[in-house]
This record gives sequence, structure tokens and C-alpha cells, in this order.
Amino acid sequence: MKTKYAIVFIFIVALVIIEKESNILSRVSDKLTQRQTPLQTSSTPLYENDTTQNVLTEDQESREEEAMGNYNASDRHKHILLMATTRSGSSFVGEFFNQHGGNMFYLFEPLWHIERMLSDTADSGNVTGLTEMYRDVLQGLFLCDFSSLEKYISPAPQDHVTAALFRRESSSSLCETSVCSPIVKDVFERYHCRSRRCGPLNLTLAAESCLSKKHHAIKTVRVRQLDTLRSLVEDPRLDVTVIQLVRDPRAVLASRMVAFSAQYQTWNSWAQEGDVPEDVEQVKRFKGTCDQIRMSAELGLGQPGWLKRRYMLVRYEDIAHFPMQKAEEMYKFTGIPFSTQAKNWILKNTQTTRGASGVYSTQKNSSEQAEKWRFRIPFKLAQVVQKLCGPTMKMFGYKFVDSETALLNRSLSLLEERQFDFSQG
Ligand SMILES: *[C@@H]1O[C@H](CO)[C@@H](O)[C@H](O)[C@H]1NC(C)=O
Ligand SMILES: *[C@@H]1O[C@H](CO)[C@@H](O)[C@H](O)[C@H]1NC(C)=O
Ligand SMILES: *[C@@H]1O[C@H](CO)[C@@H](O)[C@H](O)[C@H]1NC(C)=O
Ligand SMILES: *[C@@H]1O[C@H](CO)[C@@H](O)[C@H](O)[C@H]1NC(C)=O
Ligand SMILES: *[C@@H]1O[C@H](CO)[C@@H](O)[C@H](O)[C@H]1NC(C)=O
Ligand SMILES: *[C@@H]1O[C@H](CO)[C@@H](O)[C@H](O)[C@H]1NC(C)=O
Repeated sequence: MKTKYAIVFIFIVALVIIEKESNILSRVSDKLTQRQTPLQTSSTPLYENDTTQNVLTEDQESREEEAMGNYNASDRHKHILLMATTRSGSSFVGEFFNQHGGNMFYLFEPLWHIERMLSDTADSGNVTGLTEMYRDVLQGLFLCDFSSLEKYISPAPQDHVTAALFRRESSSSLCETSVCSPIVKDVFERYHCRSRRCGPLNLTLAAESCLSKKHHAIKTVRVRQLDTLRSLVEDPRLDVTVIQLVRDPRAVLASRMVAFSAQYQTWNSWAQEGDVPEDVEQVKRFKGTCDQIRMSAELGLGQPGWLKRRYMLVRYEDIAHFPMQKAEEMYKFTGIPFSTQAKNWILKNTQTTRGASGVYSTQKNSSEQAEKWRFRIPFKLAQVVQKLCGPTMKMFGYKFVDSETALLNRSLSLLEERQFDFSQG
């Protein structure tokens, strides 16, 4: 008898839930015509059980409220993806968010683990699988679920504890007291945070810290194409803003030749010996990266429905010239308050001279810093980059040079003024 009642009860509850959901979904669907259904490319379905279903519908309700104009946008949890390529200033710009303060959970390059693990396996050439892994891990991390990342950490975490999280110390929230476990002498001696020595990272504590923060930001140089993030951006549990950071590809090459001198040694010898072969893998890859950056920006600036108000393009050079103003713009765009702590960090780290000339000399000095590459790169290589990345440079307003004199002439700006129109619509 009892079982009968139980079954009837469950049946009624199920009906009520289905009714409620379809009701909400149909009301929401009108408002969300541009926000299409997330692509189900992942092997594991996103919404497996009732718990997640409820989260989903609650969030859709708030999206609806937002659409109707009575939702206070500043109350929402924000998710920022800082998308860049290596040596384009993303560590610096990532700090703008890392330094936000107690309400921010920031991760520095978590996708490093995936690339690292796959480089040891035969599958590393499978780009389709890779973009999906990247996206799924980002999705998990934005939801404070570290299990998606855990699979890729090597050596494998024991009881969700790892001493091998890449650049943990670059994430303020992973070095807070609540996440900092004591050092076990001798065993984990070398793992510590910048400000204090912490033992191995307990990912359960990391997840708890993540859940307690209102906003989440991830910096990565590994996402190649913006379109691979579509289902992440459309995930109704998240409120994602993608900030694409670009930099003059000539400066990027010059910087990589210093930072990754082993891999980029060949560019140096090409520059010295004569011509740069365009059909070698390394050169093709450099061109390919330029093209992907451009295609991503074209997609973002084209403002398809799924990216409306969720995509921003920034040039590193503009940030170097006007760090405070640009940081403010980024914060404003993401809808996160620009904290005093973040402002202070930017002041401290961009201001080299104090006193009467104050702000002006800061700007001048930052510009100088950002233009150092002009005196490092051989003119020949600058020409090669102009050829490989011409359309990309034109799109972002990076001026070509036609002589070594022009390259070395400080009074000749290589930057066109540009306002990228991403904030409309
Ligand atoms: C629902 O799924 C989440 C994530 O997969 C899991 O953590 C949770 O335990 C599940 N809840 C139930 C009631 O099955
Ligand atoms: C939105 O919330 C913020 C902070 O909670 C508050 O300062 C602001 O007045 C609210 N705005 C509206 C329109 O309710
Ligand atoms: C690439 O990865 C996808 C998804 O993991 C898989 O379905 C496909 O078979 C792989 N392709 C190759 C050539 O390995
Ligand atoms: C990690 O932290 C959780 C939550 O406080 C705790 O339950 C767990 O025992 C810790 N793990 C280890 C191995 O200390
Ligand atoms: C610019 O900054 C560098 C290092 O940050 C410093 O050595 C130099 O004196 C500064 N130049 C000016 C003009 O302020
Ligand atoms: C450097 O550029 C400025 C501005 O175009 C120009 O006036 C000046 O003559 C150039 N200097 C040299 C040495 O070419």
C-alpha cells in the first residue's frame, strides 16, 4: 500500500516539475531567440539529473528577468575568459582581474595540463578532440568543478590533493589562508605561494573557495578559435564574457625569440643567413595563429547573437598606453566593480615615476616598454611577419614599416587609433 502511494506521489511530483519547466522554457524561449541551444558536442551530457535541471531553470528565470529589465545585473556571478596567445601580455592583463580582491576566483592557464598530458600521448594531433577538452575543462572550472581538470593533472592527484597545479602561485585565491594547507616537511618542500609557503593544493578546498567567490576569471593562451567556445558562452548556468587580447605580431615574435629562445632559434638564424622559408612548419604555424586570431576577432566583432554583449577586443598596446583607463573599460564591460585593490595594483605596477609629471610620464614610459621590440627584432623578420600576418595587422591597426629606419624611429607610431565596436547591440 505504502509503495503505491509513494509511486503516485512521485508521479505527481514529476508532472509538476515537467509542467513548471516547460512553462518556464516556453516563456523564456521567446526572450532568448538569439541564444540558441548549446551544441551538444561533449560526450557527457551537461544536464544529467534533477539537481542540475533545477539550477538550469532557476538561471533561465533570471535570464528572463534580465531580459525584461527588472534584473539587477550587478548581482550576477560573472565569468571572464581572457583569451590570448603567448607573449601578448596576458599574464599582465590577467593580473587586473587576479588583483580584484576577495570576490574573484582567478585561474592562470589551467589548460596547460591538457596540452602537457596530450603531448605524451599519440592523440596530440587530434585538434577536434582538443578544443572540446579545452572547452569542457573551462566549463567545469567556471562551475567550480575541478574534477574535469583533475584528469589531466600529472602526477594524478591523491585524494584530490596535488602538488603539481601549474602556476598555482599566480592565482591569489589559491594562496589564501583557507586554501593554504601546512607544508609536510621534505616531501612538498618546493611548493609554496608567493606570499606564504603552502603545502600541496587540496582541490576540494580550492573548489570551496571558488564557490564562495562571486566572480570567476580564467586566463588562457590555448583556445585557438572563438567559435569553439559557443556552448560555453551559451551555458545558461554561466554568464561568460570573452575578452580577446591581441598584440602586434611583430612584437609577439620578438618576444618569443627571447622567451622561447630554444624553439625560436631558427628564426634568428634565418634572419642572419638570408630568407625565411615560408613552407616550414614553424612559419606556417605562426601564420596560422595570426589567421585564427583574426578570424576570432571577425567573429566577435560581427556580434552574432550568442556573443552579443559578451565579447570584447583589446589591444595590448592600448593597455600599455592607458592601463587604468583600459582596465576600467574592461571592468565596466564585464559588469564587475573596479575595486580599489585592482586600481592600486595597476598604479603600482605601471607607474615608474612619481611626482609632478605623474600620470603623463607613466603613459610615456609604458609606451616605451611596449615598443622595446622594435629595437630587438631584425628588420627582415619584421618584414616577414608583415607578409605572414598582413591582414591581421591591418585589421587591428598595426602599421607596416618599409625600412629599418622607420622601424627604429621612435617618433613614428606603429599604432593606428582604433575603437573596436563591441559594446553595441
Ligand atoms: C547530479 O550531478 C552532479 C554532477 O554530475 C553530481 O555531483 C550530483 O551528485 C548529482 N546529484 C544527484 C541527485 O544525482
Ligand atoms: C543593484 O545592486 C547594487 C549592489 O547590490 C546596488 O548598489 C544598486 O543600487 C542596485 N540597482 C538597482 C537598480 O536595484
Ligand atoms: C579525434 O577526437 C574525436 C573526439 O574525441 C574522436 O571522435 C575522433 O575519432 C578523433 N579523430 C582521430 C583522427 O583520432
Ligand atoms: C581536503 O579538504 C577537505 C575539505 O576540508 C577535507 O575534507 C579533506 O580531508 C582534505 N583532504 C586531505 C587529503 O587533507
Ligand atoms: C621607464 O621605466 C624604466 C623601467 O621600468 C625606467 O628604468 C626608466 O627610467 C623609465 N623612464 C622614464 C622616462 O620614466
Ligand atoms: C622619424 O619620424 C618622424 C615622424 O614621421 C620624422 O619627422 C623624422 O624625420 C624621422 N626621423 C628619421 C631619422 O627618419
